[in-house]
Parts: sequence; C-alpha cells; structure tokens
Amino acid sequence: MEVIICKDYDEASAKAYEVMKGVISAKDDATLGLATGSTPIGLYKNMIKDHKENGVSYAKCHSFNLDEYVGIDRNHEQSYYTFMHENLFNHIDIKEENVNLPYGDDQAACDAYEKAMDGYKIDIQVLGIGANGHIGFNEPGTSFDSLTHIVDLQEKTISDNARFFNNDMNLVPKKAITMGIATIMKAKKVLLIATGANKADAVYGLVKGEVTESLPASILQKHPDVVVVVDEAAASKIK
Ligand code: GLP
Repeated sequence: MEVIICKDYDEASAKAYEVMKGVISAKDDATLGLATGSTPIGLYKNMIKDHKENGVSYAKCHSFNLDEYVGIDRNHEQSYYTFMHENLFNHIDIKEENVNLPYGDDQAACDAYEKAMDGYKIDIQVLGIGANGHIGFNEPGTSFDSLTHIVDLQEKTISDNARFFNNDMNLVPKKAITMGIATIMKAKKVLLIATGANKADAVYGLVKGEVTESLPASILQKHPDVVVVVDEAAASKIK
C-alpha cells in the first residue's frame, strides 16, 4: 500500500488524477471503477479539465460504479446515476452505452451486475471512505467474501446523507445496491482518496489497523496494488 500525504483537498485531487492518468495513458480502453461522494469530485474535475484542454479521451473506456440507492428512480436528482452524469460523464467523451451503475433491489440485479463486470477487469477502482471505514456501501460487519448485494443502510449513513434530501431522514433511501468487498478486491489497482479530519480514524484503520470486517477498508492491506491519497487532516493519526 502506497500512502501519499498531500497538503489539502486540491493537492490530493491533483495527485489522485496523476494516478488515474497513469492508467488511462497506458491503456486507452481502460475499465474504470468509479465512486460517488464529495471526495472524488476534485478528481473528476481534473479529468474533465484535461479532457477539455488536452483531449485526453475516454471514448474507448468502460466504467462501473460502486453503488446506487434502492427505491429512488435513476433520474432522481440525488441518484448516483444523476451524480455521475452531472459530475463527470456529461463533460467527457465516455459513451453512454459504456457506463454502468448497479440498479435494482433483488438478487437478480446483483447477479446481473457481477456478470456485466466479469467481461471487463477493472483497471483502476476509485474509492472514498466512510467515517466508519465503509467502502462503497459495505458497512462494518460486511463479509470480506461479499459480491454485489443489497444492503440496509446504517442509521449513521442515513443521517450523514440527509443533507442531500432536504435534511429529512425520511426522504433518504434506506437500502442500497453495492459492489461487495470481494468485488472491489478483484480490481487490478485501487485508488482510495480521503480528506478531512472526520476521516482520520478510518484512515488509521485502513493503513495501520487490524484487518477486520469491523473496518471494511482494512482489507485493502491485502490488495497488491493500492494507492491511498490523503490530505494532512485525514493523515493526522498515521504520522
Ligand atoms: C457514501 C458512498 C461511499 C463514499 C462515502 C463517503 O456512503 N456510498 O462510496 O465513499 O459516502 O462520502 P464522502 O466522500 O462524501 O465523504
């Protein structure tokens, strides 16, 4: 695991883009594993900028997102489908037919997503991290053997996300569909970005803690190619 400590969010976003660019310049038809949340927005801004200014192309790329809410329409303003289009896909040349997000509320939808990914080994998986160490929507206690599955969101995750739903917890979806831990571990390379003091404990568990299902991200210690990009605040407990 390589850990890169940056001054702040902007520097971390630029560094994360360097890692991403290394992958897409080596392979113009790379398969990208993408994430939502506020953390990767800076990375996506750098991708858009380099595409617009220097023509870096995603025309041959495929993408697979980590997760999606269950129970809201894809076109809902807070769906991850909408998020990805607004923050990335609408501003680069990736083809709509090549972008994939999980969608559905049953095992058949989970199996279909795994099957879709089988044909495309993910070259780089972007991850954020929850304050409790979750990756995707794999909350503490999720089996390290899990594949794409439906999850009940924890109270904390629901309240953290209420800010996107008029601060009304009742409007926040209570379930999600997410790649599992074993799905994430299949990626060739993992790029995890964490910024802000509220991520410091999770980053400690990820980098230096025991490998335990109580802190899902800790499994990444066993992955052969992980780059963790953090800012000073998120790195405060690992120095
Ligand atoms: C959500 C997402 C995760 C994300 C996490 C942290 O739960 N499912 O993929 O990593 O939030 O979000 P943020 O980057 O906004 O802190």
